[in-house]
Amino acid sequence: MAVKLPIVTIDGPSGAGKSTISRMVAARLHFTYLDTGAMYRAVGLAVERQGIDLADSVALKRALDTIRIELLPNEHDDVRVILNGEDISAAIRTPAMGMVASRVSALPLVREKLTELQRGIGSRGGIVAEGRDMGTVVFPDAPFKFYLDASPAERARRRCDQLRQKGQAADYQEILDQIVKRDYDDSKRTLAPLKPAADAIIVDSSAMGPEAVVAFMLRQMGKAQALDTEENGMAEEESRAFKRRHLIYYLEVYDDATGTLLGHLVDITTEGVKLVSKAPIEKNRVYRLRMQLPEDYFDEKVLRFEATSLWSSNDVNPDFYDTGFRVTWKDKRAKNIVAGLVGQFGFND
Ligand code: DC
Repeated sequence: MAVKLPIVTIDGPSGAGKSTISRMVAARLHFTYLDTGAMYRAVGLAVERQGIDLADSVALKRALDTIRIELLPNEHDDVRVILNGEDISAAIRTPAMGMVASRVSALPLVREKLTELQRGIGSRGGIVAEGRDMGTVVFPDAPFKFYLDASPAERARRRCDQLRQKGQAADYQEILDQIVKRDYDDSKRTLAPLKPAADAIIVDSSAMGPEAVVAFMLRQMGKAQALDTEENGMAEEESRAFKRRHLIYYLEVYDDATGTLLGHLVDITTEGVKLVSKAPIEKNRVYRLRMQLPEDYFDEKVLRFEATSLWSSNDVNPDFYDTGFRVTWKDKRAKNIVAGLVGQFGFND
């Protein structure tokens, strides 16, 4: 009964706005934000503190075996990075630590360890994974891949602003030089180099604000079901299953009577709705539901309907509810919209 939510990957060079965008997309989808750069930074800090010679693979392996990294959410939608119990969030967010992270990230032992950790975190799906190799190496099967880019000058300007906001000194030319060098090193290394996955959507954010980028990405995810079968190289059957699995995953569903966000939709047919709920759902209760439809497809923007919950969210895994509703259609138009969805995307099989 448990649904596996999709993984969204956002790769790109330093300073392209990945962290901001990934956090926003994760918040919109109610997914977990996975900051893999922070993990490389944490390893960088650990080996630097221990004075490990990076060429000494025995010492490096020993150090890696003792490193415990935790990523905890904090109240600002940000991530607290914990290294062996110590909060190192501030210590790793410096340009110098970015360079150290870049150096350790080229080492096979380090990549092996972090890739395994990242796959573990992603194994249940429902994450927005940010980094350099998320779409190419760590989660090659992710259904939604983005590569976020911006011009080096714009990225240096943003990084300077960020540092100054935090009260840190920032020299534009120095930052620009560092960005260019780090991207060169990250993209030229042999192991998991920085590059867009073949199936990633490339977004240049040089002239786009974060809101526009997030809206674009969410729209692309909503459109993923319209992927051309041939272009995608899938057999018809497989493609239908793909569309079925990934259809409008990100739509939010509200209790229309109270305005509470119940969760997000994972499947809809003219008979029923399945959603991953955030709020507790009571069994056999009639809910008036409301959801925002994907732009571009429908004249209607909102779909309202009544649905009876088939089981209680407490019956299943408490932090990963999968809730079913049987829909009663009072509104013919609403039913027709769903019938249109079903017909158009073929998930009535
Ligand atoms: O995103 P960031 O600036 O925090 O990343 C720091 C460094 O870590 C970056 O220069 C390269 C490395 N990195 C990586 O090699 N692979 C990732 N998935 C994430 C970061």
